[in-house]
Amino acid sequence: MSQKIRKAIIPAAGFGTRFLPATKSQPKEMLPLINKPAIQYIVEEAIQSGIEHILIITGRGKRSIEDHFDHSVELENILRSRGKWSQYKEVLDIAKMADIHFIRQKEQLGLGHAVHCARCFVGDEPFAVMLGDDIIHHSKKPALRQMIEQFEQYGKSIVGVQEVEMKEVSKYGVISGKQLHDQVYEVDDLVEKPPVEQAPSNLAIVGRYIIHPDIFDILEKTEPGSGGEIQLTDALKALCSTHGMQANILQGERFDIGDVWGYIHATLSLAMESEELHEKLSNFCSKRLQA
Ligand code: UTP
Repeated sequence: MSQKIRKAIIPAAGFGTRFLPATKSQPKEMLPLINKPAIQYIVEEAIQSGIEHILIITGRGKRSIEDHFDHSVELENILRSRGKWSQYKEVLDIAKMADIHFIRQKEQLGLGHAVHCARCFVGDEPFAVMLGDDIIHHSKKPALRQMIEQFEQYGKSIVGVQEVEMKEVSKYGVISGKQLHDQVYEVDDLVEKPPVEQAPSNLAIVGRYIIHPDIFDILEKTEPGSGGEIQLTDALKALCSTHGMQANILQGERFDIGDVWGYIHATLSLAMESEELHEKLSNFCSKRLQA
């Protein structure tokens, strides 16, 4: 039987250059989607997927992420003394949400390097990685839960993928492989940001991974790749050739909130699903479109 996936790493130390100047002094992971910071959606997905321990990789200028998941004693006291019980409970619940740890990536040398910072936390068990700027909105089953169920069946490392338009592939890591059934692919290779004409498919890796712990030995030897960064995809390619790997075609709508349009898309989509905001937004849009 395969080992249980108990631990998740959320790398959130990147500079967020695509969202400057908003991300100059605040983390993109703390940008609000409606009234919750983006990273809270990811922590909630981890918990709903059965994860017990979470490590968030932060860096300079990212203190507000730690503060968000900590107690805010003054605020809790004020809300309690004013009898604002539902807000009090909401604030308290965030601090109690999960067993969350933090570590700093001292130099932003790439996603592969960020994951390597989690070696001591992970130890010798398979683990999940969830990117701090990729929101996958589901109505039935969280994206990571979909992957954990596949891992429980096959016991192999898994990359979460979704189809993207062919002209977009060079922004992603892309897989080649054979479909086993429905959501499951057997991966034979991975390429980081291929030129369109060399892309083996349009199945792009979208920020959810289940990884065998041998990745840490590989990451130790991984040289900087695309963009001069230590790329997780390069290490996964090596892991795939020695240990085998699968992909899961994730169900759910995915938003890259590190990109301005992705962020707007996420906000509008979530607002459309909100009971409170749906009507207001629909009225606004139809008036604007008629104008
Ligand atoms: P991105 O490339 O999307 O993030 O990395 P970035 O570097 O912050 O963004 P841009 O491209 O400059 O706008 C994917 C994920 O990996 C994390 C990021 O925080 C993001 O969640 N990351 C990236 C790290 O934690 N450390 C790094 O050195 C690089």
